[in-house]
Amino acid sequence: MMKLVLLCFVAVLSYSYCSEYDPHVFKKAGPWFEGWYTRITDHANERSLAVINAMFLNKNTSTSGYLALMFHDNRGEAMEVWEAFPSELDVSLCDDREVTKNPDLKTPPCFRWNAKGSTECEGSMIQTGPRSDYNFTVSLKSKSASNRGATITFTATEPTMWDDSGLGPEGIADKIPLLGLYWFVYSLGSKTTYEFQSFTVDSRGARQYDRKLKGSGIAHQEKNWGDAFPKAWIWAESVNANNTVHFALAGGPKKIPFTPFEPVLWLVGYRSPKVGAWNFKPQNLLTTGFKPVIEPCKGVFNMTIESFTKRLAVNIVAKPTTFKNCLFGPTEEGFQPMCLESFVAHLRVEAFVKEAGSWKLVDKQELPYSALEFGGKYTCKPCVPENLLGN
Ligand SMILES: *[C@@H]1O[C@H](CO)[C@@H](O)[C@H](O)[C@H]1NC(C)=O
Ligand SMILES: *[C@@H]1O[C@H](CO)[C@@H](O)[C@H](O)[C@H]1NC(C)=O
Ligand SMILES: *[C@@H]1O[C@H](CO)[C@@H](O)[C@H](O)[C@H]1NC(C)=O
Ligand SMILES: *[C@@H]1O[C@H](CO)[C@@H](O)[C@H](O)[C@H]1NC(C)=O
Repeated sequence: MMKLVLLCFVAVLSYSYCSEYDPHVFKKAGPWFEGWYTRITDHANERSLAVINAMFLNKNTSTSGYLALMFHDNRGEAMEVWEAFPSELDVSLCDDREVTKNPDLKTPPCFRWNAKGSTECEGSMIQTGPRSDYNFTVSLKSKSASNRGATITFTATEPTMWDDSGLGPEGIADKIPLLGLYWFVYSLGSKTTYEFQSFTVDSRGARQYDRKLKGSGIAHQEKNWGDAFPKAWIWAESVNANNTVHFALAGGPKKIPFTPFEPVLWLVGYRSPKVGAWNFKPQNLLTTGFKPVIEPCKGVFNMTIESFTKRLAVNIVAKPTTFKNCLFGPTEEGFQPMCLESFVAHLRVEAFVKEAGSWKLVDKQELPYSALEFGGKYTCKPCVPENLLGN
């Protein structure tokens, strides 16, 4: 079937930045969601910041939004997270056009994702061609008299696209309906300047700032869409300080529609000046195996990936104490705490090529500020009751 789809899809027009980053048509019946994720790594200041902005329609056709601001400065044990559920979302294409068709590969992304109607959060993501402008604030009512909150504002430009097709790690599989969940990486590394502020709100409603930070970094930008997250998954992402080495990985058990099969599938991309662009995906028949070692309580994810000519040995490890707060993810019933993430995972990648019948090491990278996520049943401590973990 995969081959057939490839044949049918004869002409992928390639204009720069044209991609699937634009919003999909929001379905009339749930479950259905679409969520954008951007993480900025500021190597010089040993900081990571991230924003997740998502929209969800549950089985009962009520929609909700999700907004998470995340920050880790390599001093605290775990990242800090500010989460809110915006009650009103406005997702539209440029010139206030409604989203009436799915993203194509012929027009550059241009859209706005606006959260409002809630005292707990406000702000927007505005995508104009290759430029992303974010400005989100979450202000949480804590049990004490004062509120806690944070603002993340950034501009990201010059995206490093996955490849020049405008498609992501799944390639053309993004266009096959009914796969349940899709993953698209828009940029493996965009040039970014940011501001981060955290504050409490005093009894008079005034913000008392405890941090106001500015900096620059490199942003990884991606999104997911589909009906729900799988029952278990791993996700990882990394970039080096000068934006020349990139890594992205996602995988876990995946139901194949209309079959009883639920294989564990992996998508992996590695970019470096020494090897160029290496992509591994299950439908590539030259890839002979993905061998994972998943040890969430030790904060370890290892994997060896082999094709007939290439081998990638991946070792990711993060201190277990850096996985602290369960983040929300979309289940068929709505957003639930689902996964644990670290922004200070250490990634080691070794790349080999086959020469005269044996593997020769051609590249080795150590990337200290990597992101590693254990999701669903792969978390060390449970985040959500198992019956809510769907397909
Ligand atoms: C971000 O939004 C707030 C209002 O929510 C506004 O006061 C502020 O000026 C904006 N910042 C930038 C950099 O646009
Ligand atoms: C990028 O950084 C690596 C070390 O992390 C260094 O070896 C390499 O020369 C740098 N490349 C550029 C273009 O600055
Ligand atoms: C993961 O890989 C590293 C480096 O190859 C190795 O030292 C470590 O023992 C592996 N851990 C597990 C649990 O397999
Ligand atoms: C959906 O509706 C059913 C039946 O009314 C109810 O039991 C369930 O809690 C609802 N689920 C959500 C997520 O609202």
